[in-house]
Amino acid sequence: MGMKTSLGIVGCGNISSVYLQAPLLFENVRVAACADIDMQRARSQAEKFGVPKVCSLEELLADPEIDVVVNLTVPAAHAQVSLATLTAGKALYSEKPLAINREDGWAILEAARQQHLRVGCAPDTFLGGGLQTCIKLINDGEIGVPVAATAFMVNHGMEHWHPDPYFFYQPGAGPLFDVGPYYLTALVAMIGPIRRVTASAKTTFPERIVSSEPKAGTKIPVNTPTHITGVVDFASGATGTIITSFDVWHHRLPYIEVYGTEGTISAPDPNKFQGPVYLRRAKDEQWREIPLTHGYTKNSRGLGLADMAQAMRSGRRHRANGEMAYHVLDVIESFLQSSREDRHIALNSTCARPEPFAPGEHSWKDEN
Ligand SMILES: NC(=O)c1ccc[n+]([C@@H]2O[C@H](COP(=O)([O-])OP(=O)(O)OC[C@H]3O[C@@H](n4cnc5c(N)ncnc54)[C@H](O)[C@@H]3O)[C@@H](O)[C@H]2O)c1
Repeated sequence: MGMKTSLGIVGCGNISSVYLQAPLLFENVRVAACADIDMQRARSQAEKFGVPKVCSLEELLADPEIDVVVNLTVPAAHAQVSLATLTAGKALYSEKPLAINREDGWAILEAARQQHLRVGCAPDTFLGGGLQTCIKLINDGEIGVPVAATAFMVNHGMEHWHPDPYFFYQPGAGPLFDVGPYYLTALVAMIGPIRRVTASAKTTFPERIVSSEPKAGTKIPVNTPTHITGVVDFASGATGTIITSFDVWHHRLPYIEVYGTEGTISAPDPNKFQGPVYLRRAKDEQWREIPLTHGYTKNSRGLGLADMAQAMRSGRRHRANGEMAYHVLDVIESFLQSSREDRHIALNSTCARPEPFAPGEHSWKDEN
């Protein structure tokens, strides 16, 4: 491994621009190559961001210079690309979800275990200044013992803005698989692993019509639930209510609230890195906005990747890791299973709460 960890980016679509700029935010990584089944896309992103090599996935996996493969393909392709990465003996950092079903997710963890390779996975927003401040408040006992939490991710879908929104309405996406990981990962990072879930899932609109360019007017068949109401029991004894929906036009719901024996935290959008964070203790007359105690408060996607790159050198555990991503995937699948089978689902997976950052602990250049 050279001075910087060399990344090979696979999938040069919408989100790739953020990762291709990661070396500007994190000085311990560099992008060595990029690949896409659409070579034109790969070429154009490489040109825009100064990536020295454009190649096929096979060539990228055979390149001895590359330390970590960053899988930014569509969810349905995650497992295939991730398994090929691990089989080729390379460490993996994947966009969320880890896979679109438990079997594929488990196969990824198993392949990594056998090869003694790291698996990292988005989301890494829980490492941002907003959620790290919430985690510190909880760890410092500011709200006492967490009793319960609520989390709401409700909107009217992605076909109004994403240039190619088909995948959002197919199995492995929908609001639960696509955006749910941000909320569930934040809850697990704040409160710990989940032991049991139940949910009701429905599909309100069987078809969506794209209004964004360049595919405006295209019809998308909806093949996954688009409104999911879930209840979770954390291993700690706290409970949670989570709604993820692409069926709601308007609402006045918070993002995430955590209710403790001594007070309440109102957490920021877990899809982002910033605040605001509000705290109201039992006897407080009003909510107080809490100054953020941690850095990375702007779009810092790749923070979990930089943390993993550093952990690979020092030998410590990395925070946005495969075990937590698999646990979140298990919760998601179990929600849908619970709704289908009319029963609670006890989870087989668990994970450790990721180690929080100490305030001011930044091992990489923080330009925020
Ligand atoms: N767009 C966002 O705002 C956003 C935000 C956070 C996370 N994500 C996640 O990032 C991932 C990618 O999302 P996106 O919006 O960039 O999608 P996208 O459709 O814009 O891009 C995906 C790219 O992957 C390529 N691809 C597909 N299968 C491939 C394969 N087998 N080998 C190589 N390349 C392949 C496609 O050609 C395409 O260029 C998804 O997992 C999504 O959940 C997206």
